[in-house]
Amino acid sequence: MRSMTITAIEAINGRRTIRQFTARVPSRDEVETILTAAVLAPNHRLTQPWRFFVLGAEARYAYGMALGNRKAKKIEDVAAAERMRRTVAEEHAALPMMIAVGMTEDANLEIREEDYAATMMAVQNLSLAAVSLGLGTHIKTGAIMQDPAARAATGVPEGERIVVVLNVGEPATVPPAKERKSAASLTTWMP
Ligand SMILES: Cc1cc2nc3c(=O)[nH]c(=O)nc-3n(C[C@H](O)[C@H](O)[C@H](O)COP(=O)(O)O)c2cc1C
Repeated sequence: MRSMTITAIEAINGRRTIRQFTARVPSRDEVETILTAAVLAPNHRLTQPWRFFVLGAEARYAYGMALGNRKAKKIEDVAAAERMRRTVAEEHAALPMMIAVGMTEDANLEIREEDYAATMMAVQNLSLAAVSLGLGTHIKTGAIMQDPAARAATGVPEGERIVVVLNVGEPATVPPAKERKSAASLTTWMP
């Protein structure tokens, strides 16, 4: 495990959405470290709603196939549609690691909303812990989260929500920071 001693601020400043990874597969130790950081997120009522599904190559291929199928539906040419399905599936199988983050869905709306917020905080903990290990993450969401084939591929059971799917690995390239509004321009100091 390549461990760097960096501060939380350095991890926050250094985190980027990583779209290109090296072939190195994160070790089990590294995965356990970032998941352990995830479950330390703040959590009202300590409901611990988060669930993690570490996808192996087969599961990644199946998830990619689900995504590829959605893209292929927009393509008329049968052969081109089939190429799209296969390409997206193979791209996902080739990723160093994917983690699907699920959450339990409480019947109470207020608890469910808080649980969703807490699960996202867990995702941020995971992402920052990854940076501290020299790894990077790419958060993925969208309509695919509701796709039955994607659900089957991730292993997230019925009754749980798929919150995000994360690509995780060693960055091959780290993009520059995106321009953002300054905190000062978005802050009101009330007397
Ligand atoms: C809730 C959430 C959902 C996201 N979903 C996607 C996605 O579906 N596809 C994608 O390419 N990036 C996705 N991202 C990543 C954002 O595009 C990225 O964070 C943003 O461009 C800022 O870049 P940075 O993370 O490098 O600062 C998502 C981020 C968040 C927080």
